[in-house]
Amino acid sequence: MTTATIQRFQELKTPFYYYDLELLRETLRVAVREAGRHGFHLHYAVKANANPRLLAVIREHGVGADCVSGNEVAAALENGFPAAGIVYAGVGKSDEEIRLALERGISCFNCESFPELEVINDIAVSLDKIARVALRVNPGVDAHTHHYITTGIEENKFGFPLRDLERAIRYCQGLSNVEWSGLHFHVGSQITDPTVFRDLCARANEVQRHLVGHGLLATRINFGGGLGVDYERPDASPIPGFADYFEAFATGFEALPGQQVHFEPGRSIVAQCGSLISRVLYVKKGTDKEFVILDAGMNDLLRPALYQAYHRIENLTSTSPDREAYDVVGPVCESADCFGKAVNLPVTRRGDLVAIRSCGAYGEVMASRYNLRPLAPSHFSSGE
Ligand code: LLP
Repeated sequence: MTTATIQRFQELKTPFYYYDLELLRETLRVAVREAGRHGFHLHYAVKANANPRLLAVIREHGVGADCVSGNEVAAALENGFPAAGIVYAGVGKSDEEIRLALERGISCFNCESFPELEVINDIAVSLDKIARVALRVNPGVDAHTHHYITTGIEENKFGFPLRDLERAIRYCQGLSNVEWSGLHFHVGSQITDPTVFRDLCARANEVQRHLVGHGLLATRINFGGGLGVDYERPDASPIPGFADYFEAFATGFEALPGQQVHFEPGRSIVAQCGSLISRVLYVKKGTDKEFVILDAGMNDLLRPALYQAYHRIENLTSTSPDREAYDVVGPVCESADCFGKAVNLPVTRRGDLVAIRSCGAYGEVMASRYNLRPLAPSHFSSGE
């Protein structure tokens, strides 16, 4: 962050989310270019960050939207995403949400169970619409990531188990107002091991071969999201490795002629452009430790408390040449309200500004008003 930016922060009430829109644009340019090399379609996963300013920038780059609630569908539409580029996923779509999506003419539902297909069909009949659906498959690929964000291994609430897939496709074909268009795979998030994507391609090829053998041709395959970002070194790798990621699918997945391949990146698009900026309220000496107590808490950024997630923490204003190890914590009345233990920082004092980095994804959207704390506002890179 430049001196001028930090200067500007001094005048703003903390805590707040700060977004570097230039980095967001550059990230989108690279993602769109690399997907475009292989003719892949992108739908930004709105769940990662639904800030309207970000949505407007993302939409300008011509990507679609992946939504998981009626409100996300509405937000995508309000921010200019065309309905024809919106896909809608989730294990628990309410009747009202399904109705909204059908009325607004979204491109495709990603469906996860037999009863959901039945309800979508009934609502489509009542509205005299046809619902295009992709079936989410649980491919049994281990994403080697935190167990809360792994979704592709057997027996969890997501998707159809492989053994039910063919029956589910036939079931769709028997429904009057549902059109089966393809398959959806998503095995987890923050995936940094490229073998996971290779395994996913291999499994998708097997599934596809089996279906083709039974005369079932999917027009679209959706590989979900999952590409990880470098939380340790946000400045050294501000833009995730989109080229290798898409290349892995271009070489690993055997698409049928004319078959569309879709992705739903969330974190990889927005994580690195966001920081949570906070002010040090107190530096408290304990018996063996020193605590830096921030004015931002787990209600503003839940990831460290919920997933033990690492976020790089920087003191933006200390000029001290000496360094200390601090536990960096928030003001919320929970021991879990801790952003990092034994964080090596320059000697820190009350009033210093601190940046918690790589917070653009699953930061602001997961904030709450716990302890009746206000929601942190957002600010954007200079000139915007
Ligand atoms: N598509 C589907 C079906 C998903 O479930 C997700 C994320 C995505 C796409 C986007 O995945 P991404 O590209 O962001 O990895 N709150 C957690 C992450 C939860 C991810 C849920 N699904 C966190 O803070 O790490």
